[in-house]
Amino acid sequence: MASRIYAPSSFLFLLIMIISTGLIGSGGSHGNSDHGKSYIIYMGNRHEGGEAAAQSLHLNMLQQAIGSEFASESLLHSFKRTFNGFVAHLTDHQVSKIAGMPGVVSVFPNKINKLLTTRSWDFMGFSQQRARRTSLESDVIIGVFDSGIWPASESFHDDGLGPPPAKWKGSCQFPPNNFTCNNKIVGAKFYRTSNSTFAAGDARSPVDSNGHGTHVAATAAGNLVGGASLYGFGEGTARGGVPSARIAVYKVCWADSCYFSDILAAFDDAIADGVDLISLSLGAEISRDHFEDPIAIGSFHAMKEGILTVDSAGNDGVQGLYTVRNFSPWSLSVAATAIDRQFFAQVRLGNNQTFQGIAINTFDIGNTMYPIIYGGDAPNISGNFSSSISRLCANNSLNPDLVRGKIVLCDSIVGALVPVLAGAVGSIVAIDRPAGAPAENPPSPVSVLTRRQGSTILSYIRSTRNATATISKSNVGKDEQAPYIASFSSRGPNPAILDILKPDISAPGVNVLAAWPPNVPITPYPAETRTSRFNFQYGTSMACPHVTGAAAYVKSHHPKWSPAAVKSAIMTTAVPMSPEANPDAEFAYGSGHLNPLGAIDPGLVYDAGEPDYVRLLCGQGYNTTAVQMIARDNSSCWERGNETVWDFNYPSLAVSATAEEVVTRVFNRVVTNVGGSGNASYRAVVESPEGVRVRVSPGVLGFRAVGERLRFVVTVEGAVAANSTVSGSLVWDDGVHKVRSPIVVFDSAM
Ligand SMILES: *[C@@H]1O[C@H](CO)[C@@H](O)[C@H](O)[C@H]1NC(C)=O
Ligand SMILES: *[C@@H]1O[C@H](CO)[C@@H](O)[C@H](O)[C@H]1NC(C)=O
Ligand SMILES: *[C@@H]1O[C@H](CO)[C@@H](O)[C@H](O)[C@H]1NC(C)=O
Ligand SMILES: *[C@@H]1O[C@H](CO)[C@@H](O)[C@H](O)[C@H]1NC(C)=O
Ligand SMILES: *[C@@H]1O[C@H](CO)[C@@H](O)[C@H](O)[C@H]1NC(C)=O
Ligand SMILES: *[C@@H]1O[C@H](CO)[C@@H](O)[C@H](O)[C@H]1NC(C)=O
Ligand SMILES: *[C@@H]1O[C@H](CO)[C@@H](O)[C@H](O)[C@H]1NC(C)=O
Ligand SMILES: *[C@@H]1O[C@H](CO)[C@@H](O)[C@H](O)[C@H]1NC(C)=O
Ligand SMILES: *[C@@H]1O[C@H](CO)[C@@H](O)[C@H](O)[C@H]1NC(C)=O
Ligand SMILES: *[C@@H]1O[C@H](CO)[C@@H](O)[C@H](O)[C@H]1NC(C)=O
Ligand SMILES: *[C@@H]1O[C@H](CO)[C@@H](O)[C@H](O)[C@H]1NC(C)=O
Ligand SMILES: *[C@@H]1O[C@H](CO)[C@@H](O)[C@H](O)[C@H]1NC(C)=O
Repeated sequence: MASRIYAPSSFLFLLIMIISTGLIGSGGSHGNSDHGKSYIIYMGNRHEGGEAAAQSLHLNMLQQAIGSEFASESLLHSFKRTFNGFVAHLTDHQVSKIAGMPGVVSVFPNKINKLLTTRSWDFMGFSQQRARRTSLESDVIIGVFDSGIWPASESFHDDGLGPPPAKWKGSCQFPPNNFTCNNKIVGAKFYRTSNSTFAAGDARSPVDSNGHGTHVAATAAGNLVGGASLYGFGEGTARGGVPSARIAVYKVCWADSCYFSDILAAFDDAIADGVDLISLSLGAEISRDHFEDPIAIGSFHAMKEGILTVDSAGNDGVQGLYTVRNFSPWSLSVAATAIDRQFFAQVRLGNNQTFQGIAINTFDIGNTMYPIIYGGDAPNISGNFSSSISRLCANNSLNPDLVRGKIVLCDSIVGALVPVLAGAVGSIVAIDRPAGAPAENPPSPVSVLTRRQGSTILSYIRSTRNATATISKSNVGKDEQAPYIASFSSRGPNPAILDILKPDISAPGVNVLAAWPPNVPITPYPAETRTSRFNFQYGTSMACPHVTGAAAYVKSHHPKWSPAAVKSAIMTTAVPMSPEANPDAEFAYGSGHLNPLGAIDPGLVYDAGEPDYVRLLCGQGYNTTAVQMIARDNSSCWERGNETVWDFNYPSLAVSATAEEVVTRVFNRVVTNVGGSGNASYRAVVESPEGVRVRVSPGVLGFRAVGERLRFVVTVEGAVAANSTVSGSLVWDDGVHKVRSPIVVFDSAM
């Protein structure tokens, strides 16, 4: 099991993979049995004796655990710049020996994460003409942990950028691969700590041979590039959130996924290198223990150094609640919405009836009418396929003699590809698309209609001996319902800490156009030959760098703000979304939809620092020994219990409750005045969730100075029905700013 990139590049591809190879969601651990599996030994804060002392400690521990068979190669990698720990191949017996040694916080298998854009910024009211502080923007360095980068893309040219800021200590891993950095890409490194074998096609350098990392980096901080489009679609100026910000590339994802050990090695370096923000569009189903999760561990140490980590919520929303992947309280977890750009591919029948299907159809078949046949009428009988399978257009199920040169009507999404493989001209797929499903983009003419439209077409086919149809090249139109949460976007509640709401925020993650390596096909279909310098992608992978870009924008205006303050600014200024229009409400969209312009002037922030997180961890059952290893100081857990959750200064309020029982929760909060003038009077405006009473005391906060902190108490009292979630909000309003926190009360048994 591995981390993965959060961008299946096509809904169809995803389905084909699920049906066939079982690759997606595959479990099982890595490694070969001869040398044991590889494990990560996490030992908390940086070794005080320095890097050499850390390494010799690691060798010592291994020698003790392995005994006579110990060789220095057993130590695959040492984490020693920012935090302490190492990677090694170990047997079960050796694992238990090491786990008992002093200084060890956790030992966990080296699994893998998976890798889970022009229009999107304008859609959020963040136009090219907005107030920008280019000089300060160019001081912001964004660390992107992904599949590398295609450095030659126009999105990464460095015209007008001076040398990187003096604080930058990173570097460009040059030999042996001729990768060149510039003043835009200021650092680039690749990590493969636990497996010295590279798959065919993997560039042994920071170069991106996947496309994902290039797309994500360009979305966060790509330059302005005029005339960007995929085959003319989405035409406009491509740009990242902060076109002047610098990019530091940390390549942790390979053809065989993204290993935990490589992610941690990248954190160890990026924090020491001096990045300002870290963006991770990857994740996996991992332990609920934050300190067995490489992204939670890395982002904790990043937080300690003032660096905010922005990560993807995951793409498992269709599996239901509790599917959110990156849920540590110190990171910013991003859900995906569909934006208002939609692709329509018109289908016209021989009787002149027309249908607006949805697809990115880059093929122009010139309005020629082709015979149309229903997949169910063309089974591959010699292969023993029945009509009930061929109607789905499953692999090999169609009879080439019957479909050759025709358009095929199919009842499942795999029909977007299979008929063409059997000799058809194109296909019409009739399915009920999930909300926010990306537009299909197979290497053949296709249009995706609804089931109802499909049955109308089937009636037409049945009504004539000579049924014909054609599919137009797509045109770009508007999705009037947008923004709404994509069905694939992972849902809360937070699996580790129920009463801290996750995900935190939502941002565009469907049909996002951004830079693409010209040597990587634009879709993963086996028959794909199309290439482009820009490409559409979807996933919470694509949503995450939008928020990273916004965080960089906030950082450029407020370089001194803590990670929690930046996060608060982004969350409390989010545009509220509708619980009626979005199933699972806050568990789908968090605080709402990203509003980058608002985030630079939030009025108030809910700040928090390392001691606050430590207190929260104590309440979660971590003891003094553990928190002292993880944290910088001599923290001790004198406080225990759930109060530490409710009193943790989070910018949203969540209450888990037993259904039908009245619950009372008291939240202590403190807000810091960051408004322009010191004098401000904020009034609490409460919208109570149904069946719940919310009291705020005091109801008015009068500030006299910038930086002043004022406390208040929120009491939430009420009951929820079984299996239900009720939503409300608290807004601090001074007439200029609306500092909004969602309030969610839910049945903890759902
Ligand atoms: C269907 O065909 C595709 C493309 O050739 C292949 O990747 C996939 O594994 C096949 N699926 C099944 C269920 O055999
Ligand atoms: C190492 O990577 C190669 C190439 O992806 C792969 O074939 C091999 O199985 C990996 N080995 C281990 C132990 O994971
Ligand atoms: C590096 O570039 C030089 C000159 O362009 C070329 O001869 C050499 O093969 C390249 N090396 C690699 C590893 O790509
Ligand atoms: C379809 O429309 C074309 C042009 O508008 C017309 O010539 C043709 O007769 C129509 N066919 C039918 C079946 O209505
Ligand atoms: C028909 O089915 C058989 C058995 O699965 C397969 O070998 C053959 O390739 C199929 N024909 C086509 C055209 O898919
Ligand atoms: C089709 O089914 C028949 C009868 O069960 C069997 O003899 C034949 O081998 C099958 N053909 C294929 C391609 O599976
Ligand atoms: C069937 O359609 C073809 C092509 O549109 C046309 O040439 C032919 O005359 C039609 N035949 C009948 C019986 O309508
Ligand atoms: C702290 O917790 C760890 C792991 O849960 C445990 O092994 C250790 O004994 C605890 N220490 C104390 C002082 O309770
Ligand atoms: C932590 O405790 C040790 C020993 O009790 C002491 O030497 C050290 O100064 C303390 N550090 C801090 C930051 O308080
Ligand atoms: C408090 O937290 C513990 C776990 O630490 C949990 O079992 C318990 O249900 C929580 N109590 C309430 C009232 O939420
Ligand atoms: C803030 O308000 C106080 C009392 O109303 C007033 O004395 C003070 O001058 C004001 N300060 C600013 C900076 O407006
Ligand atoms: C709550 O949902 C679960 C799972 O969907 C279901 O089994 C249960 O019956 C539901 N309970 C109520 C009271 O609706």
